[in-house]
Amino acid sequence: MSLDAFHNILIDRDGGVATVTINRPKVLNALDTQTLDELRRAMLAFRRDDGVRAVIVTGSGDKSFIAGADINELSVQTPTGGRDHAMRGQHVLDLIENLGKPVIAAINGYALGGGCELAMACTLRVAAETAKLGQPEINLGIIPGYAGTQRLSRLIGRGRALELLLTGDQISAAEALRLGLVNRVVPAAELMSEARKLAHALATKAPIAARYIIDAVNRGLQMPFPDAQAFEATLFGLVSTTDDMREGTAAFLEKRKAEFKGK
Ligand code: COA
Repeated sequence: MSLDAFHNILIDRDGGVATVTINRPKVLNALDTQTLDELRRAMLAFRRDDGVRAVIVTGSGDKSFIAGADINELSVQTPTGGRDHAMRGQHVLDLIENLGKPVIAAINGYALGGGCELAMACTLRVAAETAKLGQPEINLGIIPGYAGTQRLSRLIGRGRALELLLTGDQISAAEALRLGLVNRVVPAAELMSEARKLAHALATKAPIAARYIIDAVNRGLQMPFPDAQAFEATLFGLVSTTDDMREGTAAFLEKRKAEFKGK
């Protein structure tokens, strides 16, 4: 991937872990059309690259993860433009959710509006103690457009989601943890080391099994329970054809650490 191709995001590779940093600090890393497009292209490249086993998404600086969609663009959007904008955002977040490898949101500050929506599309969320999360769209006279109404209610339940969506309130990282909106909260100074530790740990796991787990959970949640069980059973059968399955079970029996190859 050519790093020159990106202006609003930074990409870093460390072994099997790729880190994407949204880099528009002057607007608290708000997502404009170009940034969304760069994110889309980066995610497509990660999906293709078997060497990438886990991804971290974070924001530049210590104040903000992503302070939402860019309000400069929102303020002038037309009805058809607004619909296109929402669908573009939804497409990028779907790509993140279904990348087939774990994506960790390292929430280093404000995760508001589209920022909270993007974090929810990630596989796991680690937040700094100082982070603030929320869906403040109602305060702008609009509603979330990157599937926030859907992912929030699925993640934390209908009642809690409606409260956050209708009040537009920002909540603390501790409250987000209590609601199940984030997986872990750590001191701000330890955020990136914790996210990297987690990403590197996940990167050592069997890649095909990881992909099928993500697929089984994400697709399964859209299906009636019996269909989801049948889907899980099919993936269970499929994964048992892999070299990694033979390696994982052999390593256990031989009392050694498994070396997964993603085959
Ligand atoms: N889009 C465009 N610009 C944004 C932005 C966004 N979503 N969020 C912040 N900015 C800009 C501000 O306009 C400001 O620009 P300026 O320096 O040219 O005035 C700069 O980023 C710094 O933000 P500021 O509001 O001065 O910082 P703050 O610490 O006082 O407040 C927030 C921080 C996050 C609480 C506040 O910026 C905010 O409410 N942002 C909008 C959040 C939102 O509604 N997101 C959902 C969008 S759908």
